[in-house]
Amino acid sequence: DKGNYRHFMQKEIYEQPEVVGHTLGAYVDMTSGRSRLPGEVALDFGAVRRMALSACGTGYYAALTGRYFFERYARIACDLDVASEFRYRESPLDGVDLALFVSQSGETADTLASLRYAKAAGLKTAAIVNVPESTIAREADAALPTLAGPEIGVASTKAFTCQLTALAALSVRAGVERGRISGAEEAELTRALSEAPRMIAEAFKLESQIEAIAREMTTHRHALFLGRGSSFPLALEGALKLKEISYIHAEGYAAGELKHGPIALIDETMPVIVIAPYDGVFEKTVSNMQEVAARGGRIILVTDEKGAKAAPVAAAATLVLPDMPEILTPIVYAVPLQMLAYHTAVHMGTDVDQPRNLAKSVTVE
Ligand code: M6R
Repeated sequence: DKGNYRHFMQKEIYEQPEVVGHTLGAYVDMTSGRSRLPGEVALDFGAVRRMALSACGTGYYAALTGRYFFERYARIACDLDVASEFRYRESPLDGVDLALFVSQSGETADTLASLRYAKAAGLKTAAIVNVPESTIAREADAALPTLAGPEIGVASTKAFTCQLTALAALSVRAGVERGRISGAEEAELTRALSEAPRMIAEAFKLESQIEAIAREMTTHRHALFLGRGSSFPLALEGALKLKEISYIHAEGYAAGELKHGPIALIDETMPVIVIAPYDGVFEKTVSNMQEVAARGGRIILVTDEKGAKAAPVAAAATLVLPDMPEILTPIVYAVPLQMLAYHTAVHMGTDVDQPRNLAKSVTVE
């Protein structure tokens, strides 16, 4: 039931403060500020030094963000593949202590085949899954839940932010188990994560501004999304969301890759969405943004208050989120990108919840 919403996707975007909060509650004891594993899950990160992550589509972008979390907070090296490559890549998997899969449905054919491949290779497996009775949840050694509830819209929204939440909290747990994070740091990170629902609600306040940007977006046939560090996977996810439901051709790039090719595309007709929270790589992203501005590109900057003040070039539009701890930015910055894709698709008049050629769950190879 869509309730008062026009589309399931819109409803699911708006459910995010609640479901992200639920998911976090499974991985963090809010009273003590300690990270934990949900329910009966048995998984020990203490001896994990290298992980292989694999998934498809949006789940893959969640896993790619997870790599930034796990490498930074737990010092676990992460290999990453889309599942359709992992299963055929013939990686020796040397030194891999754990294979981690991410899937909303738990039924995606390539992800399931990759899980079975990892098990056959003798690896310990874990899967972050939204449907607890799914095949992947049943077959993984450790099933790690996201509590997003049923996701109906083909374009994944709330499942993605719940996956990011689970990955962030798990990386903190892993950091503690591996002795890389002190109790005080753990408390600080989990406190930061507990702000996610409130920060997502703050992002909703940008909706009318995003709607105006979306109206303009419909006049373009192409768009570029740029991000660095943990905002790089978001650039990929923002582009996927836009192409999936509005059919506008969009590409996401690591901002530093701009001058290695895609900069040739930039002119006045090219909207460039720059995702740049004021973090350790902000200055670098901004210098890429200047390269876009110098070539007349139409910049839409997604940043925070500090970033908006520090940005040296005027963007065509600036979406300003509150300043927030770094561990939160992927979760919160996903939301304006979802809303941008949603409103662009609505203006284009496409079938938002059932875009052409796509199925919610891809159970064939
Ligand atoms: O159910 P899964 O998470 O395994 O699905 C993976 C992809 O098919 C899925 O994320 C797809 O890319 C979405 N339509 C993206 O919005």
